Amino acid sequence: MSKSQVKSVLVVDDEEVVRAGISRIVGRLGIGVDEASDGETAIGMMAKKPYDVVFLDIRMQRMGGMEVLGWINRHAPNTLAVMITGISEPDMVIQSMKLGAFDYLVKPFGVEDIEYMIERAAAGVIPMAVAKPPGDFLQAGPDRVILGSSLPMQKLFTRILKVAPTDSTVLITGESGTGKELVARAIHWHSNRNEREFVPVDCSALVENLLESELFGHVKGSFTGAFINKKGLFELANNGTFFFDEISNLSMEMQAKLLRVIQEREFSQVGGQSRIKVDIRIMVATNRDLKTAIAQNKFREDLFYRLHVIPIDLPPLRERSGDLPALVAHFIRRIARKIGREEPQVSSGAMEILETYPWQGNVRELENTIERVLILEDSDVILPEHLPQEIRQNTREFTPFHDKLVCLKDLECQYIAHVLEKTGGGIQKAAAILGINRKTLSMKMKKYGL
Ligand SMILES: Nc1ncnc2c1ncn2[C@@H]1O[C@H](COP(=O)(O)OP(=O)(O)OP(=O)(O)O)[C@@H](O)[C@H]1O
Ligand SMILES: [Mg+2]
Repeated sequence: MSKSQVKSVLVVDDEEVVRAGISRIVGRLGIGVDEASDGETAIGMMAKKPYDVVFLDIRMQRMGGMEVLGWINRHAPNTLAVMITGISEPDMVIQSMKLGAFDYLVKPFGVEDIEYMIERAAAGVIPMAVAKPPGDFLQAGPDRVILGSSLPMQKLFTRILKVAPTDSTVLITGESGTGKELVARAIHWHSNRNEREFVPVDCSALVENLLESELFGHVKGSFTGAFINKKGLFELANNGTFFFDEISNLSMEMQAKLLRVIQEREFSQVGGQSRIKVDIRIMVATNRDLKTAIAQNKFREDLFYRLHVIPIDLPPLRERSGDLPALVAHFIRRIARKIGREEPQVSSGAMEILETYPWQGNVRELENTIERVLILEDSDVILPEHLPQEIRQNTREFTPFHDKLVCLKDLECQYIAHVLEKTGGGIQKAAAILGINRKTLSMKMKKYGL
């Protein structure tokens, strides 16, 4: 999509100077632009004429930007909203991104910021067809898919497709092996950057000073061993996507540097003077709780808010056991092909064990287990005795008190899921066991997405 495909822009702000400033810049790009000084007027105008992009001040006297954003979602889903905000309202920004705002600008901003935003909007006008609920898998690369027909995975797919075409920073959390890197790859694959690099950087694997020169590059002689000028990954992967894995392992010093890159899209090489501009999208993942790390002074709060724009939390495999048969079949097919053996069947007894095992290591543990069975067992049918002993013995029983402490709400959700599993999905029976009526149970099931 070219720049000219942004044809109409509306600027909504109660400050005359801000409005006039944006209008002038947009007008110079040859795009038709209108102005409104409050939310109500803006809605009136949008109801009469479709706009491609709306710059929307979050705080206004008569009807603020959040309310207008709600209206846009309901009545003008093709319009991209760029929120305008003061420096001190990260919560509002996060909220607006959750509600589907395209992006945001923090005052004061410059000509370049507006031009950049229009350019991005032109490239990324989200084809609405893409946001429709997908099938039971989602492409994550030329030869990778994410499988998942369970409700949480379906919601995840919709979210991935929604955020992919934007350049928003994504924070992916989830237990080890839940598919965090796969999700990051899927977002890259569905973005406009998919012909450029996806660069995963494992923050725990590299020595600190190496990490710095690895990312930023260095100039000759800047430290012992720097014999030549070397470009960093940021520069080499310009226009691509960066994936910082296990971000909580970054030192405070590197966190400060990363924050600057995110804010300014600019950096200097180690030992270098000049500033290098790059256009990169940043995604990060962690299986630790960053809020706790902040409380322990191990993670910068300002960086957290910069990263927390689009949070994606991956559910553990045990909370979506409905996905298990498809995952098992998928891994059997892939691994059998890889090691050159026939694809075995899975007996119902073995499948039942796989479905009830708690999978602390999630999908990765499942994948490794299948690989092990396929290599060690030649049988055409996988029977319970072919499964590793620890899996046969450690099937899931409901243990209300794990080491991991959960809130009452989570406990309630898990217990209801457990009872429903035991009753084979029978609501009447489950309600009787739980001592609540059917209607209350249905309500709770809806609330927890069960
Ligand atoms: N829903 C899924 N469908 C298909 N394969 C999956 C799915 N989820 C994870 N996998 C596979 O499981 C393995 C682990 O996934 P991934 O590396 O993305 O997890 P992770 O959350 O980054 O793990 P870790 O915390 O250990 O780094 C990969 O081989 C990945 O392809
Ligand atoms: Mg990972």
